Amino acid sequence: MAVRQLCEQIYSVGVIDWDRRIFDELVLLPEGTSYNSYLLKGSSKIALIDTADPSKEEEFIGNLVRLGVDRIDYIIANHAEQDHAGCLPILLELFPSAKICCTEKCSELLLKLLDIPVKRCEIVKSGDSLSLGDLTLEFMDAPWVHWPETMLTYCPEKEILFPCDLFGAHYATSDLFLKDTTRFEILAKRYYAEIMMPFRSSIVKYLAALKEKKISIIAPSHGPMIQPPSLVMDFYEEWTSDTVKNTVLIPYVSMHGSTSQMVAFLTDLLIERNIGVKPFQISQADTGALAMELVDAATVVFATPTVLFGPHPEMVSVAYLANLVKPKTRYASVIGSYGWGGKTIDVLTSMIPHIKAELLEPVYIQGAPDEKARVELIKLADTIAQKHNADSLVEN
Ligand code: FEO
Repeated sequence: MAVRQLCEQIYSVGVIDWDRRIFDELVLLPEGTSYNSYLLKGSSKIALIDTADPSKEEEFIGNLVRLGVDRIDYIIANHAEQDHAGCLPILLELFPSAKICCTEKCSELLLKLLDIPVKRCEIVKSGDSLSLGDLTLEFMDAPWVHWPETMLTYCPEKEILFPCDLFGAHYATSDLFLKDTTRFEILAKRYYAEIMMPFRSSIVKYLAALKEKKISIIAPSHGPMIQPPSLVMDFYEEWTSDTVKNTVLIPYVSMHGSTSQMVAFLTDLLIERNIGVKPFQISQADTGALAMELVDAATVVFATPTVLFGPHPEMVSVAYLANLVKPKTRYASVIGSYGWGGKTIDVLTSMIPHIKAELLEPVYIQGAPDEKARVELIKLADTIAQKHNADSLVEN
C-alpha cells in the first residue's frame, strides 16, 4: 500500500492484501482485505496505531522507511490478533525504546501469542489519555469487539476514531476514503455477520457511547476510511437493533430430491403470502453469504434430509455456525425427509441454543412429499405469515 496522508500529521502506513481469499481458513474474502496502520506525528511524540499481518511485514516496514520514520515512541495495540499485532516483534526490535500501549488483557495475549515481553507494554484503561504534544489519544475499553482485550482509540484534535476491527470491511481498494458505498454496504454487512454479529449486545453499548463523541472520520483497520461516520454507523444501528425483516431464510440440502421439493413448495407459498424468501443451497456454501442472510431474516427454516440417524453433515456444520453467530432470528423450523428413521429434529434443534427463536411446528416426512406433506407446509407458511404480520416486520 502506498503511504498516504490522512490529514495533517496523520499517515496511513498499512498494507493492502489484494490476493488474500480466505481468513482463518473459514471466512472467504471475495475482495481481499487490508491491514491498516496509522502513524501520528505529534509535536513531541510519535505514535503508531496497530500494525499489519506478519505475511506483509516487509511491505509494512518499507512504508515506514519510505515515510522516513526513525523514531516511534508508542505503538497502540487496539487488538492482539495477528493481522494487526503481527508486526509488533519486528517493530520492537527496530524501535527499542517504543512502548506498546494496550489493555492488560491485550498484554497477556501478546505475551502468549507473539512472545511480547510484558515490560514493553504500558497498560491503559478506559478514560486514560496519552499526549503526543499537540495531539492526544484517548482510550476506551471495548471488550468483545471481537476478542476480550479490544479497545478503541480516539484523537480529539482531529476527531478521528481508530476502532480497529469494529466498522471494518474486508475490502481491498485503492480508495483511501470510502467512495463506492454500494459495494461497501455488502462487504461491511458480510464482515459484520461473520465477525461482529455474535457481540451485538456489546456493540449496541459502544454505539451509544460513541454517539457522545465528535467523530468526523472512522479509520478502521480493514477497508477504507469512512467519512462521514454515518456511512457505517447507520448500518450498525440497523444491524444491531432488534428489528428483523419480513424474510425467511431456508438453508437447505437435499439427497434424492424430496427435501428440495419441499423447499421449492414452501418458497412459493411464502412468496404468495408476500414474504421475502431466500432458499440457500448449502453444499460447499459460502458461509459468509449465509451469515449475511442471517443478519436480519425474521425466520429460518432448516431443510435437511436424514443421514443415518441425524441431519445431513452439511446442515450440522451450518447449524453450528448459525448458532455461533447468534442471529436475532425470531422464528425457526425444520423441514425435510427421512428414509427409515432417525432423530434429525431433536439433534438439529439441540444444536442452536443461542438462536433464541420460537420453534414453529416442523414438517418432517418419510420419503417423497405427498398431499399430507403439502398440507403441513401450507400450515407452516400460514403460521409464518401470521407471525410476521403480527410483528409488523419491516420490508426489505
Ligand atoms: Fe482484523 Fe480480529 O482481526
